[in-house]
Amino acid sequence: MARIKMVAGNWKMNKTLQEGVALATQLKEDVKNPSCAVVIGTPFIHLATVAELLKDSPIRLAAENCADKEKGAFTGEVSAEMVKSTGAEYCILGHSERRAYYHEDYEILKNKVELALANGLKVIFCIGEVKEEREAGKQNEVVKAQLEGSVFHLSAEQWKNITLAYEPVWAIGTGLTATPAQAQDMHAYLRSLVADKFGAAAAEDTTILYGGSCNEKNAAELFACPDIDGGLIGGAALVAEKFEAIIAAR
Ligand code: PGA
Repeated sequence: MARIKMVAGNWKMNKTLQEGVALATQLKEDVKNPSCAVVIGTPFIHLATVAELLKDSPIRLAAENCADKEKGAFTGEVSAEMVKSTGAEYCILGHSERRAYYHEDYEILKNKVELALANGLKVIFCIGEVKEEREAGKQNEVVKAQLEGSVFHLSAEQWKNITLAYEPVWAIGTGLTATPAQAQDMHAYLRSLVADKFGAAAAEDTTILYGGSCNEKNAAELFACPDIDGGLIGGAALVAEKFEAIIAAR
């Protein structure tokens, strides 16, 4: 099985329903035969409508989160089962904004990952160090702990539904993209960790995305690195032309 190349968008808390439908409609119109997997991550409220809209499109749909509980009295939460019922196929989990602002720790994320997988969703699992950790040379131990804390307990079978996204927190939304060399070093390290845990073949097959100020100008250079299989795109995923140019660079 060859490793899947992918460009995924993360809209975050942007776009009204109408604006989101307009963007998805334009992407559907323009992206008919991409040379890589294309995923868009939208707010919950867009999912059902956009899933319907993308039915005869190669573009796949992701939620940006799901609850860490199965169901019941958790006002305002959206379960993995509910996400799946919209037609979405992926769930982004472990994003640094969820970790930092909503205090999602290893254990909470472990529960979310398990529930997403149990409900037939694929997971785009984000990891990455903050600026101080990079400056202290601790980035490798940080990402290793993030993996060990939330996803390295999975079975080899479950692992097939995990895509990793390395997103150095200092690069997210800041314009400070990691250099291709910095990103490649980390991706190679991540792949070696996956090899130690799940074996060389599984590591070879694992898709590892880069995210953090990846845009239409720097994407090609990043994607040219052997261990960078694509991108998780925030700001540039909000503009069809930019997102499409990144897809074309993959
Ligand atoms: P950015 O966000 O592309 O706007 O830096 C990436 C992300 O947070 O996934």
